[in-house]
Amino acid sequence: MPDLGGKVAVVTGAARGTGRVHCERLADAGADVIAVDTGAASELAGTVEAVIGRGRRCHSGHSDVRDLDSLQSVVTAGATELGGVDIVVANAGIHIAGAPTWELSARAWADTLDVNLTGVWHTVKATVAHLSRNGGSIVIIGSTNGVRGTANSAHYTASKHAVVGLARSLANELGPFNIRVNVVHPGAVGTAMVRNEATYRRLCPDIENPTEADAARVLTARNLLPVPWVDPVDVANAVCFLSSEEARYITGTQLVVDAGLTQKA
Ligand SMILES: NC(=O)c1ccc[n+]([C@@H]2O[C@H](COP(=O)([O-])OP(=O)(O)OC[C@H]3O[C@@H](n4cnc5c(N)ncnc54)[C@H](O)[C@@H]3O)[C@@H](O)[C@H]2O)c1
Repeated sequence: MPDLGGKVAVVTGAARGTGRVHCERLADAGADVIAVDTGAASELAGTVEAVIGRGRRCHSGHSDVRDLDSLQSVVTAGATELGGVDIVVANAGIHIAGAPTWELSARAWADTLDVNLTGVWHTVKATVAHLSRNGGSIVIIGSTNGVRGTANSAHYTASKHAVVGLARSLANELGPFNIRVNVVHPGAVGTAMVRNEATYRRLCPDIENPTEADAARVLTARNLLPVPWVDPVDVANAVCFLSSEEARYITGTQLVVDAGLTQKA
């Protein structure tokens, strides 16, 4: 595991799912954490407990990444308490059930772009002034839908391709300040975003009441490796690597963590 001792990491979408595990792994590697989420306070409290239980400090704040003012005040309070920011993980994201592009609702389109794209831009705006000029790192969580398109997902796919462009521009702007910017693209991850009945029905349209095992079979057939999804820790490990000194000359790039999904012939 890379050494992130003495660093401070901002993580959005930190209350559950992969965001919780990013906080845990960053803390395992020695970082203190500023944990931001708009979800249930009890879930965010669970993340705080997990970080503190690993011997690290945690500043948490309830904030929606669509609300720049509230994000800025949580980050500023956290940076003041913990002593700046070294690492940013722009993880908060949503996946709203899809439809053919021309049938997507205006609400699904707008909400997805607001959270998944504008929310990442806000995260950058709220953190860059605090970010270390001595090896700072921004990691944006994309998706394999940021690498290729899939049917009935234009809203999500457009948002995840867009953050790649955002990251590329940022890498050019922040490189001279010794701040690196990279994107991690997970394939299916075994979180609530995938493990839910609506997703099972979408994956198994020919089965009346599909189970998780039915969905897992479909997903496994799409990957090179014989697994249905990666675990949150696999994504978090990539984030920790990219945020560390071990990746000191890696910027403007994309790391895919997808069990081979996007390479399957
Ligand atoms: N689960 C997957 O299969 C998968 C695959 C590829 C990429 N991703 C990406 O990984 C990231 C995390 O996904 P996950 O699977 O952990 O999802 P999740 O739904 O389990 O957790 C998402 C977290 O983000 C928070 N969040 C949502 N909207 C927010 C907002 N507007 N402001 C602040 N916080 C907000 C939620 O409250 C939740 O705690 C997302 O960017 C997602 O697009 C997930």
